[in-house]
Amino acid sequence: MGVTRIEILPDAESLAHHAAGTFAATAAAAVDARGRFLAVLSGGGTPQRLYELLAAEPFSRRVPWASTHLFWSDERCVPIDAPGSNFGQVRDTLLRHVPLPAANVHRIRGELAPDAAAAAYARELADAAPHGRAWPRLDLVLLGMGADGHTASLFPGGAALAERMAPALAVTADYDGRPARRVTLTLPVLEDGRLVLFLVSGDGKAAMVAHIFGAPAATESVPAARVRPRAGALRWLLDEEAAAALPASLPRGVALARPGQP
Ligand code: 6PG
Repeated sequence: MGVTRIEILPDAESLAHHAAGTFAATAAAAVDARGRFLAVLSGGGTPQRLYELLAAEPFSRRVPWASTHLFWSDERCVPIDAPGSNFGQVRDTLLRHVPLPAANVHRIRGELAPDAAAAAYARELADAAPHGRAWPRLDLVLLGMGADGHTASLFPGGAALAERMAPALAVTADYDGRPARRVTLTLPVLEDGRLVLFLVSGDGKAAMVAHIFGAPAATESVPAARVRPRAGALRWLLDEEAAAALPASLPRGVALARPGQP
């Protein structure tokens, strides 16, 4: 793995703008290079503003929607129209407003029983993969992080963190009153991403961000810290609040930037 880049933006709004610009630029470069753009989206509150920005000018015009394919990092096992549905969130904020072909939506079917949804998602991933592979290399893997260090639906102490074969698993985890039955992508799929982009905002995440970048050797049990792209890039986009407790000296292999500032 190469250098990990931490990019600090002043606030949640500029974080979302920076992420939208990164999404559009990554999409255009992927379509130029390989003819299609495969993106993984996440749930939670943090990416909501990003999805709204992508749905409107100028970002909506910059994304090659016809060649864009959307996958999800995880899903809560609830009906599509339930407030906790990650697909429902993206449908309402983004998909209603952009010309993404219906066939390019590779959602996790949260309305099924968790194991059936994981198996169906594994088939969906295999269908998008080169012959003989279980999943495609994803151009952009957009991830959030919980205050406990979980990412996607990979939770601290959960058995799914150790999975190296299955691309998707059913898990159960209570977090913040959100639906507990979930389906998640596993580490090998996330690590195969060409660009893994964490979006983290708010002071509630500052202690975990500081832990991850303060003592990397002690973070084997922190799912977000375990996502280390094998041949891709890793960027953490933070707002000032989430970055507030970062150590003054960062570990070797971690570079810090403040985009937009001289
Ligand atoms: C989901 C997720 C999850 C999320 C974090 C952060 O629950 O669907 O994909 O991993 O990214 O829980 O959520 P917030 O952005 O709401 O803090």
